[in-house]
Amino acid sequence: MSNYHIKHLEEYYQVYRKSVRNPESFWEEIAEEHFMWRKKWDNVLSWDFSKPEVKWFEGAKLNITENCIDRHLYTRGDKTAIIFEPNSPDEEALHITYRELHDRVCRFANVLKENGVGKGDRVCIYLPMIPELAVSVLACARIGAIHSVVFAGFSATALATRINDSDCKMVITSDGSYRGAKTIDLKGIVDEALQECPGVNNVLVAKRINSDINMQKGRDQWLQPLLDEAYHDCVPEIMDAEDPLFILYTSGSTGKPKGMVHTTAGYMVYTAYTFKNVFQYREQDVYWCTADIGWITGHSYIVYGPLCNGATTVMFEGVPSYPDFGRFWDIVEKHKVNQFYTAPTAIRALAKEGVEHLEKHDLSSLKVLGTVGEPINEEAWHWYDDNVGKKKSPIVDTWWQTETGGIMITPIAFCTPTKPTYATLPFIGIQPALMDEQGAEIKGNQVDGRLCIKFPWPSMARTIWGNHQRYKDTYFSAYDGKYFTGDGALRDEVGYYRITGRVDDVIIVSGHNLGTAPIEDAINEHPAVSESAIVGFPHDIKGNALYGYVTLKETGESRDPDNLRKEINQIITEQIGPIAKLDKIQFTNGLPKTRSGKIMRRILRKIASNETENLGDTSTLLNPECVQEIMDNVL
Ligand code: PRX
Repeated sequence: MSNYHIKHLEEYYQVYRKSVRNPESFWEEIAEEHFMWRKKWDNVLSWDFSKPEVKWFEGAKLNITENCIDRHLYTRGDKTAIIFEPNSPDEEALHITYRELHDRVCRFANVLKENGVGKGDRVCIYLPMIPELAVSVLACARIGAIHSVVFAGFSATALATRINDSDCKMVITSDGSYRGAKTIDLKGIVDEALQECPGVNNVLVAKRINSDINMQKGRDQWLQPLLDEAYHDCVPEIMDAEDPLFILYTSGSTGKPKGMVHTTAGYMVYTAYTFKNVFQYREQDVYWCTADIGWITGHSYIVYGPLCNGATTVMFEGVPSYPDFGRFWDIVEKHKVNQFYTAPTAIRALAKEGVEHLEKHDLSSLKVLGTVGEPINEEAWHWYDDNVGKKKSPIVDTWWQTETGGIMITPIAFCTPTKPTYATLPFIGIQPALMDEQGAEIKGNQVDGRLCIKFPWPSMARTIWGNHQRYKDTYFSAYDGKYFTGDGALRDEVGYYRITGRVDDVIIVSGHNLGTAPIEDAINEHPAVSESAIVGFPHDIKGNALYGYVTLKETGESRDPDNLRKEINQIITEQIGPIAKLDKIQFTNGLPKTRSGKIMRRILRKIASNETENLGDTSTLLNPECVQEIMDNVL
C-alpha cells in the first residue's frame, strides 16, 4: 500500500521526488495496487508534446464504473455512496448506498442500450443536480458511451452548439429544475435547442418538478417507467485505457467552445489519487463539494474521484442563499460533513452576510476546507479560515483546470503548511515551470511568469473533440515542449506557487470561465451595434465582472441607452446564458486599436478597473483620441 496515502510533509517530498525521477514506475505502482483492471497495460506512458500525443497505461482494459461501484459491493455495499440534498430543506435527503447505486446505474445503462446507445456514441446530459445526473454519467461510462454534460445554466443556443459539435445522438434532461425559490423550464430550453440539432432523435426526461411539459412523440420519453422496466444488472463494457470517457466544454479566448476529451485509465488513477490525498479522506468521512457536475470539479471531485475511493459524497441541488444564507452550514451540520470544497465566489458571498448564519450551526465535524476555480483573495481566505474552519481546518487552495482533469498545485491537508492566497506546492507527479515572454524558463525562487507544465500527468485532456490542431495551437505552441496553462503565477522564496490569474482573453466570473470573443460575437449581433470589446474588472463577490465597451452604428445612436443595455444583455443570455451578462456597458465612439487593427484590451481593462495612472504609451495607437473620450465617460 505504499505511497497511496501521504501523511506528512517529509513523505510528500519523498514521494514527489520519486514521482518525478521515475514517473512510469511511480504511476505503475499506484495503478497496480489500487484499481481494478481487466487486463494490465503493456506500456505505462508514451508521449510527445510536439504532436501532441500522450498515452497512459496503453493496452490496459477496464471499466471505470467497476472501480467506482462494483469493487466496493463486497466491503461497502451498505455504505452511502451519494447523499442527495434537495433544493428545499423541507424535502428529505436521500442516501444512496453503493448497492443501490449499482442497481440504478445498471438499469440506466440498460435503458441507454435499449435506446440504441452504444460504445463510443456521444450522449448529452443536461440535468440539474439530482441523482439522475450522477447516475446517467456513470451509466454512459458503464456501456462505453461518451458523456458530454452541459451545465444546466447554459442557454438553448449554447446547448445546441455543444450537442452539434460532438454529434450527440441522445439528450438526457428533466422536466425542469429548482433553483432556490425559482423553477427553470429545462425541457423548454432543450426543445428550443433541438430545433437546431437534427442528429438527436431520442430524449430521456427525468421528472423533477412535475410541470406540464411538451413531450414530442417519437422523440421524448419519460425516464422513470423505462428504468422500472429495465434489468437491474448490466455487464460493463470493457474499455481500452485510452478510450474517451467524456467530453466537457470549456470556453476559449476565441471561437467556439472547446470540447476537452478525457480518457479512461489515466483520468481514473489521477482523480482518485488526488482526492484521497488532497482532502485526506478517511473511510467514515462525509465529503461535500458544492460544485455542479456540469463543471470539471463535479466530474472529478463529486463523481469519479470520491466514488473510486468508496467515499460518501454529497450532491446538493440548491443554492447557498435559499431559504437563507445559512443553507450551506445547515447541510454541513445535518450530514456531519468532514471535507467541504467550494469556490471563492461562494465564500465572498457568504462572508458578506456576516457570521450570524454560521453561529446558528454546529460545524465541528469539519476537518478540511477546500477552494477552487479562481484566485482566492486574502480577506476571503481569512474569513473562511477564522469562521468556518475556526483556524483548525487546513484550507486546500487547489489550482487546476478543465484541461488538467485533476488537481495540479495544492496543499495536501495536514501535510503542507498553508499560506493565504497560495496554492502552494505541485501535487505528486506534477512538474510546473514559469516562463518568460521570450520563451525561456525562469529558474529559482521569488520570480513570476507564465505557468506551464513540463511533463505529462495521467489525467490531462488528450485532444479537443474534432480539432486536434486547435488543441496543439492552444496548449502546446506558446512554449516549445510544454503545456501552457493560460495562467500567470509567482513562486515565492520557499517555492510556493500563487496563481495570479489568466494571461489570455479568458475572464473568470464567479469561478466560471468566459471567453471574450463569444460574448463580443453575441453583442455584435444586435442590429444597432457596430463593434464591442469585453474586459474584466474587479468585483467584490464575483472576483471579476464584465465591462463592455460598445460602439453603435449611426442608426443606434438615437436609441435609449438603457433599453439598448437591456437588449444587449438579453442577446447574451440567449446565446450563452445569464452567467455571461455584462455588469456595465459603456457606449463609445471608437475602440483603441493598434495600427494592425487589433483592439487594445490592456488599455480598456485598466480604464474599467480605474487604474488609469499607468496606461502606457498610447501615441502609437491608430486612434489615440478615443482613449480620452472613453476615460471621460467611464461608468
Ligand atoms: O485561471 C485558473 C482558475 O480557473 C481556470 C480553470 O478554469 P476551469 O477550466 O473552469 O476549471 C475550474 C475548476 C478546476 C484556471 O486556468 N483557477 C482554478 N483554480 C484556481 C484558479 N485560479 C487560482 N487559484 C485556484 N485555486
